[in-house]
Parts: sequence; structure tokens; C-alpha cells
Amino acid sequence: MRYSHLTDRLQGLGGDKWAIHTLARHMKREGRDVIELTIGEPDVPCPPDLIQAATAAMVAGRTGYSNGRGEPDTLAALAQRYTARRGRRFGPENAMTLPGTQTALYAVLCTLLGPGDEVIVADPMYATYEGLIAATGARAVPVTLHPEQGFRLQAADVAAHITPRTRVLFINTPHNPTGAVLRADEIAALGALAVAHDLWIVSDEVYEDLVFDGVTFASPLDLPELADRTVVTASISKSHAAPGFRSGWCIGPAEFCSRMLPLSETLLFGSQPFIADMTTRAITQNSPVARGMATRFAARAQTIHARLHGLDGLSVHRPEAGMFALLDIRATGLSGKAFAHALLMQTGVACMPGESFGTGLAGWLRLSLTQSDAAIESACTRIAAFTENPRTI
Ligand SMILES: Cc1ncc(COP(=O)(O)O)c(C=O)c1O
Repeated sequence: MRYSHLTDRLQGLGGDKWAIHTLARHMKREGRDVIELTIGEPDVPCPPDLIQAATAAMVAGRTGYSNGRGEPDTLAALAQRYTARRGRRFGPENAMTLPGTQTALYAVLCTLLGPGDEVIVADPMYATYEGLIAATGARAVPVTLHPEQGFRLQAADVAAHITPRTRVLFINTPHNPTGAVLRADEIAALGALAVAHDLWIVSDEVYEDLVFDGVTFASPLDLPELADRTVVTASISKSHAAPGFRSGWCIGPAEFCSRMLPLSETLLFGSQPFIADMTTRAITQNSPVARGMATRFAARAQTIHARLHGLDGLSVHRPEAGMFALLDIRATGLSGKAFAHALLMQTGVACMPGESFGTGLAGWLRLSLTQSDAAIESACTRIAAFTENPRTI
């Protein structure tokens, strides 16, 4: 049978990247002792008051249809939050709610891109970006991030990749998988390029609330001169330990939101009002769980660094935010994929191969920081033993 070009473009962009994770889950089901450092789920449950808010809203009958933009109270709460955080005015006309950052990014990119267009994106990148871009028919133009620059996207590198077909500069700060947080001056330099070449900036800021102590978050939304060309996506998945609620949004120019509305209506015909009520509550108060997560994840990254950095040529890149640390295993001569597979089979430690996030992270591993301190210690012991005895590889 024949299928659409869209599904053709997405072939091979899904499950392959997660093969080690799938294998680890299978081994766990078989009763094997597995430490799962693959995906990043918050390490605490969703705060009970948010669950109660969603439940109470359902009981109160908030189960009907909504509309394609989002519930007015949630849009107003988003406008208030971004006005307070970014230091300039945002109104409800600048916001739209969607089911998670993932759907928001899909809708945003479909609003801005089509076949023949090019998107500049950092390599490595979050595993779904390739599919998000491919879905639109546009071409991803990867710009390699360098560890010696803290894996932060540099305007000079971006400039070298701009062509007359470039439409979007797609950034992610804090960045998954590297945990890099773009500095204000770096964003200003990227913004100047966007202005000079008339590009949109799409900024995935889902980890904004998980910035570690001592690091300052910056966004292109901070800069009034970028107001007409910037769209930011985020959600409560990480900040409020609520990924299963699938509640996210985008913030952008009013004209952009109006342009995206028919697409959101076509996709969804509106999100769930009871989730909107819970989200309104979440974003009008500071998250009770975000700071704790950021503190624990920073400490676990520090543990991994103390235990593994410099050991048998291994090197640990410490994140500035988010849920992951990176381990450079290039000195072993193995690919990330081969190392991760052998490590899982022989020690039960499951990590993501860097290759799952692009060629820019070949020969690295991504380690999730969301398991307990004891599990992280034990994983380090097993990784050290595995690396110290090359015969086991
Ligand atoms: C960089 C990045 N963007 C987007 C997402 C998806 O987030 P959401 O649950 O809001 O769809 C994730 C999830 O891990 C992520 O790491």
C-alpha cells in the first residue's frame, strides 16, 4: 500500500534512537539488575495540589470542548508569567496552549516551514527534532556544538550555515542533551543574525526552571528587537514534574498566533479544560519541586564528575541545567553505541549513546541524573570497573 510523503520522511526517525532504552526495559522485565540512566523523567511525583486541581475541575464539569487557542484564564496566566519574567509586556494574544512542548514545536514549525526551506539547528540536538523538522518537509542544517565552548551555539558558526533558503534558527536553552545555557550576549549575537537575515527564532525553553544555582537563564524573548520574530515553547512537564498531563504552550507575536490558530484547531479542536485549570494554577505560583530537582541534579552531576572524570581517559561534561550529564568515552576507541550496548549487557547500566542526538556527540554517552543518589553512585562504580578492564569490552 502507499502512504504519505510525511510518513516517508519520518521513517527511521523514531525507535532506533531509543534501542538501548528499550533493551534495558526488556532486561528489567526479565528481572535483571538494571540502572536506567536513559530517559529523563522528573524524580518526584507531580505536586498533589495540581492533581487535586485537575480532579476538582473534572468534578466541576470542566470536561467540555475548549477552543484552539486555549482557555482564557490560562492564556492570561501565561501572559502574566512572561511579562514578569521577560520584563516587557505580553498579552493573551501572544500565547497559545498545546499538549506539551512536543506538540507546540510541531505546530510552530509547521506554521513557519515547508519543503525547500532550511532550519539551522544545533548538533547534538534533542532526539525528536530531526523528525519535527522532517515532518515539515524542510531541511535541517546542523551546526556542530563544541565541548570547549561549553556546547553553546555560537553566532559565528551559525553565520557560516545561513543561505537564502534559511527560514528558522531553532535553538534550545537550556539544551538537551548537553545542559548548556546560552548567555545573554550569545543570544544577542544570534538575534542580530536573525534580524540581518530575516529569520524566525524558535526557542525550546522547556528546562527554564531547571537551571542550576549560579547560572543565569536568558531568552530571545528578553530582547524587544526580536519580539516580531521569536516564538518560545515550554510546558509544565519538567518544571512541575507533570509530563503525563501533556500541557504546554507557545509564546510569540500576536500575528503568529492568529496564523497558527487554524492549524491548532485542525490538530486538536482545543485542549482539555480541566488540564488548563491545573496548568493555570501551576504557572501562577512558583513550582514547589523545580528548585529541589535542579539542586539534586547538579549534585548528581558533581558526583559523576568526581567519580569518573579523568579515569582511563574518560571525561565528564558537567551540565548547567536540566537532567543529564555527558561522558566522553572517545579515548576507548569505541562508538557511543558500542560502549552503551556492552555496558548494559555486562553491568546493567543503561545510558543513551551520544549518536542518538546527532553526529556532534559521537563517542559520548548521555547519563540521566534522575535516578537516586545511591543508583548514581552504583552506576559510577560499574562504569569505572567496566572502563578499567578493557577485556570486558
Ligand atoms: C529539549 C526538549 N524539548 C521538548 C521535550 C518534550 O517536552 P514536553 O513533555 O513538554 O512535550 C523534551 C522532553 O524531554 C525535551 O528534552
